[in-house]
Amino acid sequence: MAKEIVVSGIRPTGFLHLGNYFGAMRNYVRMQEEYECYFFVADWHSLTTHPDTKELRNSVLRVLAENIAAGLDPEKVCLYAQSDVPEIAELFLLLNMLAYKGELEKTTTFKDKVRLQPDNVNAGLLTYPVLMSADILIHRAKYVPVGKDQEQHLEMARNFAQRFNHRYGELFPEPQAFNFGNQLLKVPSLDGAGKMSKSENQYATLYLADDDDLIRKKVMKAKTDSGPTEPNSSMPDYIQNLFQLMSLVSEDSTTQKFREDFDKPSIRYGDMKKQLAEDMVKFIAPIREKANAIRQDESFLSKLMKEGAERSRESASKTIELTRKAIGLKYF
Ligand code: TYM
Repeated sequence: MAKEIVVSGIRPTGFLHLGNYFGAMRNYVRMQEEYECYFFVADWHSLTTHPDTKELRNSVLRVLAENIAAGLDPEKVCLYAQSDVPEIAELFLLLNMLAYKGELEKTTTFKDKVRLQPDNVNAGLLTYPVLMSADILIHRAKYVPVGKDQEQHLEMARNFAQRFNHRYGELFPEPQAFNFGNQLLKVPSLDGAGKMSKSENQYATLYLADDDDLIRKKVMKAKTDSGPTEPNSSMPDYIQNLFQLMSLVSEDSTTQKFREDFDKPSIRYGDMKKQLAEDMVKFIAPIREKANAIRQDESFLSKLMKEGAERSRESASKTIELTRKAIGLKYF
């Protein structure tokens, strides 16, 4: 039986962090055995925020190296850069006719960007969810492993797929956001406000490239208070965040012990953060070292991207052929 199809992408806009790992990459690694997987670096999407493109090549190779270091096997999954698959741009153009200005303007990520970069509200930002839908639908994917922040984009991809199918005939499955057996994840930042992110609040985000001392420093600076004074007190958000981070990287028994200490209450946040810092170092250091080694091997990464682009285009060109036919764009 043919394997079900999975697509996901990451923008090359900075160092990858724990949010990227637990929201997306960990699922990629788990899915690679059972699904036909297409994972790509979303370089076109990154242009919407006008990065310094002299850094682009380095960033793209780094994202690939970090994904392989996290456990992706390039023999099992198709890895490529979005811009190497021009069929995505054609599908993007066609889907744009089914996307309405009003709904695009209402997208949360668009509104965030308008707030963050008021002098650069370009059309690419507005149509960002349409390009993302093209990324997914080009392989007619069923599942899309992503973090919670991408949920609305997936809902829009389903709407565009539905509209296409309704207008031109059944072609696209409606893609679902995916996290193994769980709700979509939002990995919180260390300052108690918002989520870990590639560009905002760098000191509150743990990057997969951070060295051991920096990891320790960041964790030790995380927001706490003088601790609960009554048994079974309610837990402030920023302490809940620390427990959430601990549950991702520490032994269950460790997290459990600190939870009991909180309830008694006999917790010492300094001890908890020291433990969390050491467990973070243990988790991040091997990925960082492996990624550094893989990143050195430019010819391996270039070859991999060329092969990935070819495989991706094979699948994409079949979809484009069917899309043109469905619409009636076929004259010879
Ligand atoms: P990007 O590059 O911002 O993030 C890559 C992946 O990491 C997840 N993520 C998080 N998950 C949990 N907690 C966090 N703090 C956190 N921060 C980031 C994101 O949800 C994402 O899964 N628009 C996408 C890239 C993209 C894409 C696609 C994804 C372009 N086309 C098609 C899937 C399918 C983005 O900007 O992700």
